[in-house]
Amino acid sequence: MKKTILETREVVKIYESGNLVVKAVDGVSISVAAGEFVGLVGPSGSGKTTMLAMLAGLLNPSEGQLIIDGQRINQMNDVQRTRFRREKIGFTFQANNLVPYLTALENVELMLRLNKKNGRQGRKKARQLLARLGLEDRLNNLPSQLSGGQQQRVAIARALIHEPSVVLADEPTASLDTERANQVVGIFADLIHEQNKAGIMVTHDLRMCKFVDKVIQMVDGKVARVITDRATIDQLAGSSQFDAVSESLTQNPSQHQPLLIPHVPKWTAVAVGAD
Ligand SMILES: Nc1ncnc2c1ncn2[C@@H]1O[C@H](COP(=O)(O)OP(=O)(O)OP(=O)(O)O)[C@@H](O)[C@H]1O
Ligand SMILES: [Mg+2]
Repeated sequence: MKKTILETREVVKIYESGNLVVKAVDGVSISVAAGEFVGLVGPSGSGKTTMLAMLAGLLNPSEGQLIIDGQRINQMNDVQRTRFRREKIGFTFQANNLVPYLTALENVELMLRLNKKNGRQGRKKARQLLARLGLEDRLNNLPSQLSGGQQQRVAIARALIHEPSVVLADEPTASLDTERANQVVGIFADLIHEQNKAGIMVTHDLRMCKFVDKVIQMVDGKVARVITDRATIDQLAGSSQFDAVSESLTQNPSQHQPLLIPHVPKWTAVAVGAD
């Protein structure tokens, strides 16, 4: 058995704005082991981004425990949590949040600098990682000089460069074409496996599940199912058995393509609401 790196126990998140109360996450208990890559799927509004923001230490849960590397992150003070996040967590969110006046390479090196790992070795590693993601000839471009997909890949490199224990990615393939999405998620999966990270990727594109070891499906803030069986995951990633495997994901009548769940990004709302 691989060591559990990330664990949540009965996590609840309630958003209150005015007299509107939304239970975005409702009693979620999950675990992710070292070297395990998890796909977090579910309809729009089911609580995936909220879950990720709590795991990243960006949002406090209303109830429950979040444990990473044996430490309860929701019981840390702000200083402890900021430091923990910087060292142990890598993340890319629906908006990639690159620093606009730093080049691709500098954006990645920034994570190394924050963690005091920006020596010669670190810089070489940053170049190598960007090259592995197909960006060797874009190292010195500013984000505004990169396509959406290239920016997304820089964000992925930045999430991985400091070798965090946990890597969280919210829709990392949203702005990539199919071929590039396959490449990027494939590399992402390889790095998680090679470096024994715990990885969670939120995705609306079920085809990306072919790269993951476990699928967690959320519906209405709850875990509807957890799939660890390889054959069932592969079924889910292929179009033919979609209905049979996950009927609750197919109930949206506006869904034209069987593999893609309609998607309205809500990241901005979550960022504003972060405590
Ligand atoms: N800051 C906030 N204040 C109030 N409600 C919020 C806030 N952020 C999210 N919500 C609500 O919480 C629920 C879960 O939102 P969340 O963004 O986690 O869903 P999601 O599964 O990531 O959806 P998507 O697939 O569209 O990104 C939704 O009903 C959403 O409207
Ligand atoms: Mg989301």
